[in-house]
Amino acid sequence: MPLLEVRDLKTYFFTLAGVVKAVDGVSFTLDHGEVLGLAGESGSGKSTIAYSIMNLVPPPGKIVSGSIILDGVDVAKLSESELRSKIRWRKVSMVFQGAMNALTPVYTIGYQIAEPLIQHLGMTKREAMERAAELLEMVGLHRSMLNRYPHELSGGQKQRVVIAMALALEPPLVIADEPTTALDVVVQAQILNLLKKLKREKNMSIILISHDLSVIAELADKVGIMYAGKLVEIGTAEQIFNNPQHPYTRLLLKSIPRLRGPVDKLEYIPGTPPDLRRPPPGCRFYPRCPMRMDVCNEEEPPIIEVEKGHYVACWLHAKR
Ligand SMILES: Nc1ncnc2c1ncn2[C@@H]1O[C@H](COP(=O)(O)OP(=O)(O)OP(=O)(O)O)[C@@H](O)[C@H]1O
Ligand SMILES: [Mg+2]
Repeated sequence: MPLLEVRDLKTYFFTLAGVVKAVDGVSFTLDHGEVLGLAGESGSGKSTIAYSIMNLVPPPGKIVSGSIILDGVDVAKLSESELRSKIRWRKVSMVFQGAMNALTPVYTIGYQIAEPLIQHLGMTKREAMERAAELLEMVGLHRSMLNRYPHELSGGQKQRVVIAMALALEPPLVIADEPTTALDVVVQAQILNLLKKLKREKNMSIILISHDLSVIAELADKVGIMYAGKLVEIGTAEQIFNNPQHPYTRLLLKSIPRLRGPVDKLEYIPGTPPDLRRPPPGCRFYPRCPMRMDVCNEEEPPIIEVEKGHYVACWLHAKR
């Protein structure tokens, strides 16, 4: 049984200006010890998937349908109190996008890391502080940081504190939403190595969300490509990087700057993603797709397995 199975997830935002279909029928599975990288343009629904798995979608957002089976339990159906006591921190924790700005200014770093350990594991204050110090060292910070307040830390240091907090209870699943975007390359490499180590030694599963495909390439076993609320392609990292099939994935990969190799001009994807209140009737990438056909504007492409474990939602592969 996989650790996580997301089935036909739909999460919408019910705004005054209309219903934003931020995640619209997304399915995937994640095994124990597996890292899933999620990539795709800004606004494609990556963070909304993450919030849905935590069952923490902020209003006016709502999980409209689908299931999220984590370790045998559908988190989409649990009450807030069950989520708090059984799921969050224990089964899944999340490094939120821009989370370093969410540290509470009036408490020390030590207190903020120790608190969930006292709450969830029943540790004494002393034990929790010792564990907090170890966690700080794990993310490359000195234990003396325990007594500091968030405003006394740099952005990268705060981000590492937030990562330490997510790892505190060693849950089987950690979701990291742009965890290294604010960090310099040295610290970024340190964090990625730490995540690799946790995967290897604790068999931790990770959902790594990043704009940066090189970060994803570093860590992911499996890669999912989001476009306008849909998972348009998913497969092993090797399949996605070496044999991408969706025209969007191909363009996304071409837009990564390369140091070596022929000096092509850097490609970019012309046009903008659709308004998610009124997505196109067929394939959502239709208006921007260099390979588009008539059918693409009429009917949504089904997701098809093109090789073992490699799925693509594109009419170039599907039969009508
Ligand atoms: N609170 C909200 N109210 C209304 N719409 C929202 C809200 N939060 C997100 N959305 C919309 O949902 C869609 C998906 O947003 P989401 O934050 O999941 O994207 P993302 O892929 O994480 O983008 P980024 O790479 O910029 O972080 C976007 O179109 C966004 O405008
Ligand atoms: Mg996001």
